[in-house]
Order: sequence, then structure tokens, then C-alpha cells
Amino acid sequence: MGELMVNGMKNSVLSLSLIVLLAPLFYADSVNAQSTESAANLYQLACSDCHGKNGDKVALKKARLLVSLDEAQITEALIDRRSGKIKGAGNGVKKRLSDDDIKNLAAYIQTLKK
Ligand code: HEC
Repeated sequence: MGELMVNGMKNSVLSLSLIVLLAPLFYADSVNAQSTESAANLYQLACSDCHGKNGDKVALKKARLLVSLDEAQITEALIDRRSGKIKGAGNGVKKRLSDDDIKNLAAYIQTLKK
């Protein structure tokens, strides 16, 4: 009985070290998929109310359709609104975007084009 317990513990310690050792390999592989996924989440949470789930709604009767813009145009538009160079109703959200958010959102919006 005691010996079984010790063996069991040795096994879990072994599997645990394996997970700890191997995790970075899987993590590195999934980073790209993850950023697309998180850009999708971010977009649906922070942008879709105004710009539409598919980037095909005229935000507050003002903005151009996001799906009509290419990656560079979106990146520039977000940087100029984050800095306050261009003022718009969506700037509250845009001010909080990181460089990575902007890059990933600009790429994600391209995937909404049909
Ligand atoms: C409260 C509503 C609202 C939210 C939320 C919002 N926007 Fe906007 N957005 C607007 C409005 C209104 C404009 C047009 C006014 C302006 O020039 O900023 C605009 C403009 C833009 C433009 C430039 C479009 C053009 O006509 O050149 C882009 C790109 C953009 N938004 C992307 C986003 C992204 C990405 C998010 C999410 C991080 C977001 N917006 C969140 C309302 C919003």
C-alpha cells in the first residue's frame, strides 16, 4: 500500500516535469493562431457594436466600411485615432489599443472580406 502510493507520486512528478518541459514547444506553435483568435475576440467585444460583426456597418453613419479598407489603411486609421490626431466617437476604445492589437485587428478585419 505505502509502496503503491510512493510509486504513484513518482509517476505524477514525472508527468508533471514532462508537461513543464514540453509546454513551451506547444506554446510557441500556437502563438499565431492565438493572436488571430484574440483579435477576433477583441474585435467582437470592442468594435462590432459600431462597425458591425462583419465590418460591414457604417459606424454612427460616419465611418467608411471597415471591409473596404486594406491592412495599411486600418493600421494608419487606428494609430491616428489612438494618438488623437483624428478625433472620432470610437476613440475611447481606440486609445487603449496596443501596437500588437492594431496589427492583429488590421489583419483580422481582412478575413471578414467576402
Ligand atoms: C462607439 C462606436 C465605435 C467603436 C466602439 C469603434 N469605432 Fe471605429 N469608428 C467609429 C466612428 C464613428 C468612426 C468615424 C469617425 C472617425 O473618423 O473616427 C470610426 C472610424 C474607424 C476607422 C476609420 C474608418 C474610416 O472611415 O477611415 C477604423 C479603421 C475603425 N474605426 C476601426 C475600429 C476598430 C478596429 C474598433 C475596435 C477596436 C473600433 N473602430 C471601435 C465608431 C466606433
